[in-house]
Amino acid sequence: MIPFSPPTLTEDDIEAVVSVLRSGWITTGPVGREFEAALTAYTGCAGTVTLSSATAALELALRLCDVGPGDEVIVPAYTYTATAAVVHHVGASIVVVDTEPGSCTPSPERVLAAVSPRTKAVITVDLAGVPFDTRPLAEALTGQGSRAGGLQQRLDRPVLIADAAHSLGARLDHAAVGEVADLTAFSFHAVKNLTTAEGGALQWRTGLPADHDDIERSLRLLSLHGQSKDALAKTTGTSWEYDIEVLGWKANMPDVLAALGLSQLARYDSIVERRLEMVSLYQEGLSDTGITLLPHQQPGLRSSAHLAIATLPVPGVEERNAFIDQMRHCGVATNVHYKPLPMLTAYKRLGLDISRYPHAASFYATEVTLPLHMALTDDDIARVCHAARTALPGSR
Ligand SMILES: Cc1ncc(COP(=O)(O)O)c(C=O)c1O
Repeated sequence: MIPFSPPTLTEDDIEAVVSVLRSGWITTGPVGREFEAALTAYTGCAGTVTLSSATAALELALRLCDVGPGDEVIVPAYTYTATAAVVHHVGASIVVVDTEPGSCTPSPERVLAAVSPRTKAVITVDLAGVPFDTRPLAEALTGQGSRAGGLQQRLDRPVLIADAAHSLGARLDHAAVGEVADLTAFSFHAVKNLTTAEGGALQWRTGLPADHDDIERSLRLLSLHGQSKDALAKTTGTSWEYDIEVLGWKANMPDVLAALGLSQLARYDSIVERRLEMVSLYQEGLSDTGITLLPHQQPGLRSSAHLAIATLPVPGVEERNAFIDQMRHCGVATNVHYKPLPMLTAYKRLGLDISRYPHAASFYATEVTLPLHMALTDDDIARVCHAARTALPGSR
């Protein structure tokens, strides 16, 4: 069986983790700080705080910006639940926008049409690793800031938060993801391009009109019970005594996981290169089948090639699901990214109705995600292309 997305760990990765296990300090500490500095240097952003997940990073981004009851946050219909659930968790209203026809993302114009005086933030999604360009939104929204203080007042517009769970290493023109939106949330979950088993990070961009030391301090407080000293500072400092400054959450990344991320970051450019190469091999191998892959490289845009999202030349969901079954018979694991939010029970309960999101629904109906991971050989990709050819309805 060709698996969908197993992690690829090297002896160096294992050694890095073992060395933290032997060090006598396994939770948040010096290795985490080193990983944060390396991530900041990697994207060229202003600062990074590592966390327990991208979900935590998105939620703390909203809390950092004082988003809460009475506020609205815009999210796309075509994403994983984490993008929107965090909006509900902070007590704000989720405003969902459809994608463009034939696409899995909305245009900036569609996002702008959903902005109201209550919009405090917009969460865009770099689906499959393809970066969403927030710069036109930043320009068009300027002048629509809150008068209630906070980052929205200083920016004079709603805050733009990138859900970059898929897109570490992606670039728009000369800016890496991390330097484009105001705040950027990354995931290091087990299936991601770079993994710490579970983990995430929040970055803030250069030039954000805020005190950057304050941002870092607030995020550390929010992610560790609002405690004025972390465990290491309590152990190694001159005094045990600490305060609880805010009622915070618990979302810090331990050093034992940071070591895994730091080790992979050292070879991460070559990981993205190989993933982009594999997407090109799929594009070539499937070019005469009617199966089209989401583009991952265009002038001024480079994706991190996280997911090989493909559109099948089939009429709808039934035939797409039959294709997936047929691929499994041929020994190839595939997946679907994503069932649009308004089709899921919890979101239906919030009043969302898929009939109002026809483009997301139709993209979903014929979408399939092909395997994409570092253990795939060129021969494996040829096998997947062959299986896909035979799994299409006309060829059975
Ligand atoms: C688009 C998107 N956003 C957010 C997340 C949440 O990431 P995490 O599992 O690190 O919380 C995921 C996870 O797969 C995702 O795909």
